[in-house]
Amino acid sequence: MRTILIFDTTLRDGEQCPGASMNVEEKFLIARQLARLGVDIIEAGFAFSSPGDFVAVQRIGREVKGPVICSLARAKPEDIDSAWEALKTAHRPRIHTFLSTSEIHLRHQFRMTREQALERAVAMVRRAKGYVEDVEFSPMDASRSDPEFLYRVIEAVIQAGATTVNIPDTVGYAIPEEFGALIRGIREQVPASDRIVLSVHCHNDLGLAVANSLAAIRNGAGQVECTINGIGERAGNASLEEIVMTLRTRRDFFQADTRIATEEIYKTSRMVSGITGMVVQPNKAVVGDNAFAHESGIHQDGLLKERITYEIMTPASIGLLKSKLVMGKHSGRHAFRERLLELGYELADEDLNKAFRRFKRLADQKKEIFDEDLEVIVSEEVYRIPDTYVLHYLHVESGTDKTPIATVELLVDGKPVRETRTGDGPVDATYRTITAITGTRSQLVTYAVKAISGGSDAQGEVTVRIKEGDKTVLGQGADTDIITASAKAYLNALNKLAHRRRQAEQATGGGV
Ligand code: KIV
Ligand code: ZN
Repeated sequence: MRTILIFDTTLRDGEQCPGASMNVEEKFLIARQLARLGVDIIEAGFAFSSPGDFVAVQRIGREVKGPVICSLARAKPEDIDSAWEALKTAHRPRIHTFLSTSEIHLRHQFRMTREQALERAVAMVRRAKGYVEDVEFSPMDASRSDPEFLYRVIEAVIQAGATTVNIPDTVGYAIPEEFGALIRGIREQVPASDRIVLSVHCHNDLGLAVANSLAAIRNGAGQVECTINGIGERAGNASLEEIVMTLRTRRDFFQADTRIATEEIYKTSRMVSGITGMVVQPNKAVVGDNAFAHESGIHQDGLLKERITYEIMTPASIGLLKSKLVMGKHSGRHAFRERLLELGYELADEDLNKAFRRFKRLADQKKEIFDEDLEVIVSEEVYRIPDTYVLHYLHVESGTDKTPIATVELLVDGKPVRETRTGDGPVDATYRTITAITGTRSQLVTYAVKAISGGSDAQGEVTVRIKEGDKTVLGQGADTDIITASAKAYLNALNKLAHRRRQAEQATGGGV
């Protein structure tokens, strides 16, 4: 039985999903959960790309024990140096550098000859090796590269010190049989390949990322790069939970498994979805709401007689237990803290107090509080960036015979500002009023509302996506009143934009 290494890139490639950007606190929280999940390597970010990413890589490297912590770096001296600067206090650091090898990329994007690319790849692997033993190299767009040139590059970077070589299907173009053959070809044609870990990194443009990764494993890949819920650039990356559960369920076929604690999968999926705002589709394999829901009478009948008639894995194997009724308004702080710990949230005293106060307020409005409610409380009270705009007052009137009208008061940098506007509906009136106060030029791209847990007193959770220039951000808000939840979601997105603007101004030494 081979052990396949799981390289999680949720915090790097996953974050490249439009609107899914995370702040340092959020990344740290996810990294700790990934360590509990048992991933072998965490790609914590791309240190050179922004001050936020640098700090995230540094903090995760210093504070998260267990997995190897990795930073991405282009094949450029400044990127490699910055990756090392961020990683030098890490317990188990890795630098991951990359350069394209396909003719399409070299000619049109990098304007380099093959020889120049080969030389640069070798030089940058050597530079990284001067800092750290564990160096990974990725020939980007490998699946569209000339295999003979690819073999040469791989042999050369191994001789220069690469310990892992990762083969990306950058644009999700490969077909499983073909991708498996490419991996086999590397194993057979690159003499030094038996000294390193051969890895794969597949994108999902044709919905084949998991199938391609599995074909690669069958043909000798020892590491797969993947993300929680399959989030990532464009159509995303191979989904960690699908690869892991396929290997676990079909060990007989693959003769391979991973070190993942599968009972942590569901919790991790929910955490990533909650923090990034990337909703998991109900029919998503393994972690979707319907993945273990049996609707047809024939299936239900079979299941009741014998589970294996229609279930190839158990909900418990991914940690999906019946949503627990946590507590009500008489529950104490101790029980509250214990339940949060079970959900993967270890909070400092001050944060715990904030979350507990919100829990008590909610318990006054809502009889039963579920795990899902607690997750929202933590993400809203603890892991939010500092707010420029705070909702202070909201009054909305609407009805079948009335033009909806909203009055909103926001605290803008601490000062109250009040406005009133009408709209096509109560949410529209509220959003127009908030737009008038904040003077935002952003556009609302999507708006979605769902109930968290069941019952007519359930909290409504609203997710919005807004766009300003080329920046897209997601905002989320929850409340037992969906108009208030809608206002909170819009403000959360506007606060993220304001925060980004402030960070950009600081990075360039002040505004214009
Ligand atoms: O998709 C890709 O090629 C990448 C590389 C940086 C590994 O993300
Ligand atoms: Zn990628």
